[in-house]
Amino acid sequence: MNIPLLDLKAQYASIKTEVNAAIQEVLESQHFILGPKVEECEKAIAAYSTCSYGIGVSSGSDALLACLMAENIGPGDEVITTPYTFFATVGAISRLGATPVFADIDPATYNINVSQIASKITKKTRAIIPVHLFGQVADMDPVMLVARDHNLIVIEDAAQAIGAEYKGRRAGSIGDYGCFSFFPSKNLGAIGDAGMIITNDAERAEKLKVLRGHGSKPKYYHRVVGGNFRLDAIHAAVVLAKLSHLDSWTAARQHNAKRYDRLFREADLPIGLPVVTTNRHIFNQYVIRSSSRDQMQSFLKKKGIGSEVYYPVPMHMQDCFAYLRIEAGAFPESESAARESLAIPVYPELNEEQARYVVESIAGFVDQTEPVPAEFTRA
Ligand SMILES: Cc1ncc(COP(=O)(O)O)c(C=O)c1O
Repeated sequence: MNIPLLDLKAQYASIKTEVNAAIQEVLESQHFILGPKVEECEKAIAAYSTCSYGIGVSSGSDALLACLMAENIGPGDEVITTPYTFFATVGAISRLGATPVFADIDPATYNINVSQIASKITKKTRAIIPVHLFGQVADMDPVMLVARDHNLIVIEDAAQAIGAEYKGRRAGSIGDYGCFSFFPSKNLGAIGDAGMIITNDAERAEKLKVLRGHGSKPKYYHRVVGGNFRLDAIHAAVVLAKLSHLDSWTAARQHNAKRYDRLFREADLPIGLPVVTTNRHIFNQYVIRSSSRDQMQSFLKKKGIGSEVYYPVPMHMQDCFAYLRIEAGAFPESESAARESLAIPVYPELNEEQARYVVESIAGFVDQTEPVPAEFTRA
């Protein structure tokens, strides 16, 4: 059997007519950058996320960068986040000359350990970026409390978490800004790089719109330096076409996750399973843990099963951040997650037979590697 980590071809096959029509409409309009489709998409994503304003941008990475720029964060400033994330979270801070400051993760959820945030705050701290990893919102109440106490900006990195909820509130709508990625492998993916920022603050929304067009306002007059962070209409059109399917895809992912939970428990395997602490985990990834992760991944590959390590090197151990002078061992939970975690297929179209095959294959791997009990080896 061949089971990829994500089957985008299956998704496209099920919505081909709608997506093709959406693309065709943009081609007919010949309006390719920003414009009415982007505005429609901004309104729809903001509404879906129960937020007032959406600002379409070129990627999730640029969404994070633009929010930090909107707050004039730069050299001399510190931003607190987690080292167990995709590079973009920390890259955005560093690119602006600000200093990333890390708090370790909670090993149950892989999200920032909020009890470590307060001790990281200094006079230089300007912002916190909680990351809603794998599709589950970080513990936002304590994040917001500590942020308001210290007058810090909160930028939610919700790149993996569109539609996820925390105490009934949607990902991205809780902090000052929420950043989404429409990278094709996300639950709501464009046909290339694309992203969006949401906010409830009209002034911030306006500032972001200026920043995404090189800071131009009015046209060709620049009071600030921005960038080319504009969203293309073709991506907005595809995102809009897919949005009406998002809730059913999410439900299918949640169903697949529950089925895995059950099958893994029945098989009684020595692996860690995802821990759900919020009311709507959208399972962008279903991540298991094993002390023999690398061997397990090679075994699964031979069985035709796709998997991925998110992420093999925590940010404080990346070569480009050596200047931070953080020793290995500083964030033990992030480091052990980087050694042990493995994402397995959980995409909406995954069926019962495929899920059973994945679990049986992992059970087969465990059987093969399980140390032989002592009573069998005694002479
Ligand atoms: C947690 C996280 N932050 C930021 C990003 C950046 O998004 P993009 O790839 O759209 O630039 C991603 C996407 O991979 C992500 O997973």
